[in-house]
Amino acid sequence: MRWLIKDIAKMDVGIRRMLRSATPNWRDAEDYMRVAARESVTDPKSGKYIAIALFRNQKLIGWAMCDLWLSQCSKKMRIYLYVKRQYRHMGFGTLLFRKAKEVAKRRGKGVRVCPHNKESRGFFRAIRITKEDVAPGYTLST
Ligand SMILES: CC(C)(COP(=O)(O)OP(=O)(O)OC[C@H]1O[C@@H](n2cnc3c(N)ncnc32)[C@H](O)[C@@H]1OP(=O)(O)O)[C@@H](O)C(=O)NCCC(=O)NCCS
Repeated sequence: MRWLIKDIAKMDVGIRRMLRSATPNWRDAEDYMRVAARESVTDPKSGKYIAIALFRNQKLIGWAMCDLWLSQCSKKMRIYLYVKRQYRHMGFGTLLFRKAKEVAKRRGKGVRVCPHNKESRGFFRAIRITKEDVAPGYTLST
C-alpha cells in the first residue's frame, strides 16, 4: 500500500482528477470532498485542504481530507473520509481515519468528524468516536 499526503492544490493534476472522479455526489447535494478536488483542479489555491490518498497496486482505494479552511480558528480539524465501494468493510476507512488523526496531531490539533447518515454514524460509533469529536450540527445517534 502507498500513501500520498499533500496539500490537495499541490498534488499532480491527474491525481486530483482521480480523487474527484472517485467521489460520487449524494442524491441531494454535491459531495464536499468532490467539490474540493474539483476546485483544486481549476483554482489551485494552496493551504485549504490536505488530501490523504491510499493506493494499492497503483489503484486508489480511498482518500481522506483534512479541512484547514474550516478549522482555522479551532483546536480540532474537520476530517472527511471516502472509501470506494468495492473496498469497504476491509478496514481501510479505519486506516484513513488513523492517518488523518496523525496529520491533524502533527499540526497540534485534534479531529472533528461529520456523521451525516446512518452508515457513517455506524462507522464512527464502531471506531469509538466520542460526541466531543462530532462537528456541530451532526450526531452519532441513529
Ligand atoms: C464510512 C466509510 C468511510 C467506512 O469505510 P470502511 O472502509 O468500510 O470502514 P472499515 O472497514 O474500517 O469499518 C470499520 C467498522 O465500521 C463499521 N461500519 C463500516 N461501515 C458501516 C456501515 N455502512 N454501517 C454501519 N457500520 C459500518 C463496522 O463495524 C466496520 O467493521 P466491520 O466491517 O468489521 O463490521 C465508507 O463507508 C464510506 O466511504 N462511506 C461514504 C462516505 C462517508 O460517509 N464518509 C464518512 C463521513 S465524511
